[in-house]
Amino acid sequence: MNLIHRWICRSARWRRKLEEQVLPWVLSDVELGPDVLEVGPGPGLTTDLLRPRVERLTAIEIDRRLAESLAARLRGSPIKVIRGDATALPFGSARFSGAVSFTMLHHVPSPALQDQLLREVRRVLKPGGVFAGVDSLQRLSMRLFHVHDTLVPVDPRTFGARLEAAGFEEVLVETNATVFRFRARCPKNRSSS
Ligand SMILES: C[S@@+](CC[C@H](N)C(=O)[O-])C[C@H]1O[C@@H](n2cnc3c(N)ncnc32)[C@H](O)[C@@H]1O
Repeated sequence: MNLIHRWICRSARWRRKLEEQVLPWVLSDVELGPDVLEVGPGPGLTTDLLRPRVERLTAIEIDRRLAESLAARLRGSPIKVIRGDATALPFGSARFSGAVSFTMLHHVPSPALQDQLLREVRRVLKPGGVFAGVDSLQRLSMRLFHVHDTLVPVDPRTFGARLEAAGFEEVLVETNATVFRFRARCPKNRSSS
């Protein structure tokens, strides 16, 4: 992430927005179960807000500095922070009861890698596990925030089909003025996928 992005992602304003708007919308009626994976926590404001909602939480962050500082901040808590790449998850199959990603998919540098990430999340979910998240719509402000940073916007009109192609079912994608939320389920019967 570039400097302005890092600053926004740890600001009080972003925390308020996550707490009051983003998480309630993304997670309403979503049952993540007891063992949850968070993909791309950044500085961890989303991780902090997830903590009281789930029994066990593992966060995987590709940026070494962010991963190390989040791991240091959460040392002694039950949350596990791992430095790693969500397009090649270092977990066995069917490990997690649920997975989330908040405003991170557009940081994955190509549609092919984004699809690989979706397949990986599906692989590590238990049968029936839910993947829920949110990402930004393409707007001028998005492009400005991402100067010298990765920006591969995800088109909500095709994202449902991409989730299905990755093996998910019961897919929902909904858009508001600035972002879209999604949720999708790993098939209960894996042989049907
Ligand atoms: C814009 S930040 C969002 C942070 C946080 N989820 C939030 O909403 O405040 C996106 C994060 O995803 C991370 N990221 C990008 N690609 C990743 C990958 N392949 N695996 C894990 N994390 C990744 C970035 O390093 C960055 O910290």
